[in-house]
Amino acid sequence: MANNPTIRELSQEDRTFEPPPAFAAQANVTAELYEQAETDRLGFWAEQAKRISWDTDFDDVLDWSDAPFAKWFTDGKLNAAYNCVDRHVEAGLGDRVAYYFEGEGGDTRTITYHDLLREVSKAANALIELGVKTGDRVAIYMPMIPETVFAMLACARIGAPHTVIFGGFSDRAIADRVSDCGVEVVITADGGYRRGKTNPLKATVDQALRDIPEVRTVVVVKRTGEDIDWHDDRDVWWHDVVDKQPETHEPEFFDAEHPLYIMYSSGTTGKPKGIMHTTGGYLVGVAYTHWAVFDIKPETDIYWTAADIGWVTGHSYIVYGPLVNATTSVLYEGTPDTPHRGRWWEIVQKYGVTILYCAPTSIRTFMRWGRDIPADYDLSSLRLLGSVGEPINPEAWMWYREHIGGNNCPIVDTWWQTENGHILISPLPGVTATKPGATMRALPGITADIYDEAGTPVEPGNGGYLVITEPWPGMLRTLWGDEERYKKTYWSQYPGVYFSGDGAKFDKDGDIWVLGRVDDVLNVSGHRMSTAEIESALVAHAMVAEAAVVGAQDETTGQAIEAFVILRESAKEQDNAVGVLRAHVRAAIGPIATPRSITVVTDLPKTRSGKIMRRLLKDLAEDREIGDTTTLADASVMETIQQQVRAAR
Ligand code: WTA
Repeated sequence: MANNPTIRELSQEDRTFEPPPAFAAQANVTAELYEQAETDRLGFWAEQAKRISWDTDFDDVLDWSDAPFAKWFTDGKLNAAYNCVDRHVEAGLGDRVAYYFEGEGGDTRTITYHDLLREVSKAANALIELGVKTGDRVAIYMPMIPETVFAMLACARIGAPHTVIFGGFSDRAIADRVSDCGVEVVITADGGYRRGKTNPLKATVDQALRDIPEVRTVVVVKRTGEDIDWHDDRDVWWHDVVDKQPETHEPEFFDAEHPLYIMYSSGTTGKPKGIMHTTGGYLVGVAYTHWAVFDIKPETDIYWTAADIGWVTGHSYIVYGPLVNATTSVLYEGTPDTPHRGRWWEIVQKYGVTILYCAPTSIRTFMRWGRDIPADYDLSSLRLLGSVGEPINPEAWMWYREHIGGNNCPIVDTWWQTENGHILISPLPGVTATKPGATMRALPGITADIYDEAGTPVEPGNGGYLVITEPWPGMLRTLWGDEERYKKTYWSQYPGVYFSGDGAKFDKDGDIWVLGRVDDVLNVSGHRMSTAEIESALVAHAMVAEAAVVGAQDETTGQAIEAFVILRESAKEQDNAVGVLRAHVRAAIGPIATPRSITVVTDLPKTRSGKIMRRLLKDLAEDREIGDTTTLADASVMETIQQQVRAAR
């Protein structure tokens, strides 16, 4: 944003939705919480720290003397697995369901807190037998099955930081991550189910470890029963090593700053970063935000984060947050369209899901398939909806509200990052009058701002860089093995202030709209514009389900807008869709935002967590060789798009 720090406002959105009065009346949080946190921020966090059990109390809430290396809850001692499991059983909640597991093929398992305690204890004993010691890193490359949670908590229980690798990543990605954090033990499965097929996880691990003799043990969960290659000197079956173990394990208590996990941020650009989270602050952060943002009532809610455990959203809101709060969750292995496109709604109906948290990419996919599909199911149990991962287009937000939420569920559009550990900016469902597409305001206890290039906070109505001005409990503590990169990436733009890398704007009321990664901001004839707002204008048209916009080099304007759109199924037969859409954008936001080209495609390049990888589309638009595609969910999609672009021109 060197020349012109503000991003031009394109959106005309002005709808607002008050919380339904019945919801507000029973909500966990009222507006007073903001004041409480503002009056004494660290005192507020000390209060939140009571949500978890400490074996030894902490001394200071925050030690920031060695900034940007934070210590939260200094000298406190605790065990994360004890907090997620044992203490609930001790409190008499052992029979409460922790997870309703639903396999893609329809197999189910019900895991109570009792079950969880037994399985985690056995797995912890097994890891100890395999020689895993406190501080050792363990890699987990698994499908979405209960053993994945058992494995994570078993690691946490013995103080061995886990690094969970997305089950869809390639052998290369595994090899990079395993080497980067010096893993000696890998936990995987023979395979998992995805889109009605099996995903050969063990074979991929074998491939990844060909040149990594440092990995001495691979523990294999039997899920699909398929034939796999076996390395006698290295591989052990989970059931062989876990089933025979004692069902109890005495937890040890670790320092609040003991590493809990390393999560590699696949990112949409650059070499993956080993984002390191520690124990005390992280658990306090996920416990508080899960309670406040999702209005959790653990006795009655059936909570479902429909995301992958291999993504930070799964760590914080499938595993640690819900378990710390003794919640009952749904854990679903598969994809939304297997064996049919109503699968998610069937699950909501079957379990009476009350809270659903997912990504905009899923909502736009459902929009594409049409409202008739969810209409066939009883979704009346839902009382709250959440969104995470990308800016949600206002029209997708409205669709979610109407066709999933029955116009009666608050929507929390939650902004945060792998680095943040937990939600930082979000509406509070019983307090905030929400706006479609806005993430609104920093949570009580969090201080967010938007800065211009010089580090001056921008005025309402302007855009700039989204920053967090004070440390928060769940913040990353460093990048594994690379303190310099940690300092440079997050703390060098504005000293002492966390730089998120996202563009954002304050609207006239001072509410926050996230505009996407700053690298994605366009510059047409000197006007800086966010891809998110142009995409939202396209999605606002009844024909469009999804849109991706990039700035491609242009001799006269510097950059020109190139758009890629997926049409809704109901619009497939439409004549001259491209002409109609160009006119629509022109009318909706003005000539400056009119795309130079619009290409109708059947798919868009996305990461496994559903983020559109615009840089690949930019490569295409600028006629370059397509860059690194290793983090794509589906590696073949760029070829298909290339063909569609060629056919269209
Ligand atoms: C984007 C996901 C707009 C943003 C938990 C951020 C969002 C990146 C939102 C982090 C949201 C996440 N509105 N953009 N509600 N939530 N993002 O590390 O660009 O997978 O920087 O963490 O996703 O993605 P990550």
